[in-house]
Amino acid sequence: MFHYTHLRSFGHVNATSDSQRSSCHSHGLVVGYGPDPAAVSEKLQSITKDVIRGNHDKAVAGIMTSDDFNPVARLAVDWTQAQLSPDLMTWLAALPAGPKTAEGVVLIHGAFQDEDEYVFTPGQALEGLLDSSTVLSFFGHTHHQGGFSYHESDIAVLPLRPRPMETFSALHLEPGHKYLLNPGSIGQPRDGDPRAAFAIADFDHDIVEFWRVPYDIPAVQSRMYEANLPEPLIHRLTLGR
Ligand SMILES: [Fe+2]
Repeated sequence: MFHYTHLRSFGHVNATSDSQRSSCHSHGLVVGYGPDPAAVSEKLQSITKDVIRGNHDKAVAGIMTSDDFNPVARLAVDWTQAQLSPDLMTWLAALPAGPKTAEGVVLIHGAFQDEDEYVFTPGQALEGLLDSSTVLSFFGHTHHQGGFSYHESDIAVLPLRPRPMETFSALHLEPGHKYLLNPGSIGQPRDGDPRAAFAIADFDHDIVEFWRVPYDIPAVQSRMYEANLPEPLIHRLTLGR
């Protein structure tokens, strides 16, 4: 399960997850912040068809205005548009909105009811958990690794982020529970840990693993400087914010 990436972190995550992965899903924000939008799009096309769109994908593809983005994000949208070939723009514009079912899990970008709504709190997660027909749903948009479970009218916040000295934590799926989980963001984590974040669902063992792996952040930042991308976008990679 991937949410927003750039080539440097994507390559590293692929190396980490390849041996365990039979398929891969991405739930939005393919492009919009990083220095390699074309290469990332092509790589994603080559490994999965299970991709849904995020708000920046829509803005870059021209199917949503970026007027309500902050000026920094709007600059990145304009720069990204100039990097993509007509074929990639067509592919991006055709990405479906969530919810999308893929191999037994549901992919959404924001909330079930609204792909552009942020889900930070149990109250925001509840309606989607009640509506979901599957055990496992994955969302993105907040770039915060974590999630929620629902069982017999109780909703719980799950502490799923690996600690700084650990590379992964595991969630055991309990019978009768439903889960709404955020694998975090590979390319721009915002939960205070700058390492790339993703999740691996292991249905054979009823486990979801939440991973954090380091990557060469300075190398990505120098590519962003070369591309004249806005300074705040470059600096936030160091902070994971
Ligand atoms: Fe988003």
